[in-house]
Amino acid sequence: MVDMVSKYLLFIDGEWINSDSGETFTRVNPADPSEVIGEFQKGNALDATKAIDAAEKAFKAWSDTPAPKRAEFIFKAAQMLNEEKDELSQIMTREMGKTLLDATADVQEAINVGFYAAGEGKRLFGYTAPSEKPDKFAMTVRLPIGVAGLISPWNFPIAIPAKKIFYSLLCGNTAVLKPASDTPLCATKLIEAIEKAGIPKGVLNLVTGPGETVGMALIRDKRVRVISFTGHKDTGATILREAGIKRLNLEMGGKNPIVVMDDADLKLAVNGVLWGGFETSGQRCTASSRVIVHEKIKEPFESMLVEQVRMLKIGNGLDPKVDLGPLINKTAQEKVARYVEIGKKEGAKLLIGGSIPKGLKGYFFEPTIFTDCTVNMQIAQEEIFGPVISILSARTLDEAIELANSVEYGLSSSIYTNSISNAFAAINKLQSGLTYVNSPTIGAECHLPFGGMKHSGNTREDGPEGIKEFTELKTVYVDYSGKLQKTYLENK
Ligand code: UN1
Repeated sequence: MVDMVSKYLLFIDGEWINSDSGETFTRVNPADPSEVIGEFQKGNALDATKAIDAAEKAFKAWSDTPAPKRAEFIFKAAQMLNEEKDELSQIMTREMGKTLLDATADVQEAINVGFYAAGEGKRLFGYTAPSEKPDKFAMTVRLPIGVAGLISPWNFPIAIPAKKIFYSLLCGNTAVLKPASDTPLCATKLIEAIEKAGIPKGVLNLVTGPGETVGMALIRDKRVRVISFTGHKDTGATILREAGIKRLNLEMGGKNPIVVMDDADLKLAVNGVLWGGFETSGQRCTASSRVIVHEKIKEPFESMLVEQVRMLKIGNGLDPKVDLGPLINKTAQEKVARYVEIGKKEGAKLLIGGSIPKGLKGYFFEPTIFTDCTVNMQIAQEEIFGPVISILSARTLDEAIELANSVEYGLSSSIYTNSISNAFAAINKLQSGLTYVNSPTIGAECHLPFGGMKHSGNTREDGPEGIKEFTELKTVYVDYSGKLQKTYLENK
């Protein structure tokens, strides 16, 4: 008997429909590729265009709806996600391999974003400023931008699309979501939950399918006025080239360092490196993929770290004892294996790991640590997006900071130290959008700004910045003097 595979649809203009392409694709469980997760519509450019048409048509009524009223829908959607938290977490673990604990945090983040964004509905603040002229009033107001194209990654398959949806809709935009093709089920379940909140038709649309067709159609369509993208920097660069003039919010990768100073609490630092480096099997743009350790404590630090890594359990994330689930797909597994070979050839010393574990069906990889890395090695420069940590050493804080900054990325960074001076010097000098003191580079909270410097991105999402991402700021002058007043000229 063949198991029935569920078939999922596109969501356009309030209807669940088949793709114009007539084609579908399947997704398998990366912990056990014999389990098919579902069959999904392989959307094409025409589907994307239909979704943009629907979003464009819905824009007037939605943008005319007062923001506090729109916020009520967002609040309800967050409540729906809360009701379905356990089910969504299970689905996530099956679809992309995160441990259940990690998946629960992902859904919780989406819920928290929803409640936070709903509160912002009463705070779409502009500001007032004194005018140069008498009897003249000057202020700013926030307005929706238009149709938003939301392109989301697979590594936070509920939290990231949810935040893009909640902020864009709250601000009065209408949206088309193009989720990563590795996690179409999470995206579908997310939209279903939000649909239950009663958001009017056409306001939110879902088109699954390839980036080259669906994503590209969103990026190139002139009616899409804002793109919010999270993903690989090469895709971000393509978006910059192809999008024409529209608002582009790009969140991309990282090669995030943890600096461990000689005055640090070593046990705390080791735990932080484990959590930051290997949570989600290192598949986070914020993953702690580099450790820069003070040479005085390098040896004890490394031996404590290796001892802990030995205890990590690899396996299916549904098993509560498991620490590391699989990588997202075979290509990712091959990429990590390739980087391990590169690291060996470059002369780095493999401390632990480095192989595909035996006897498991899925796309697993051992937690891997290289040491004695030098700054120009590929494994110390490039984003691997897997459970691989590269250790470098430094003699002083200045040297550590220089090493930390010597990559093209600048998303997150961390320092472990008990010295206030070290901490503040690092906060000041580390080139990254986020810096953590005495905790790892992951775990950003959804009500504070999130985003990177340098090649990690060109925007900030979340918190008050999330509002800026999705609004136009209009400057308004009201002259009630009854005279023509010429700016920067005396009234004569
Ligand atoms: C990402 O990996 O794309 O700070 C984002 C964190 C998460 C977000 C990661 N809240 O690790």
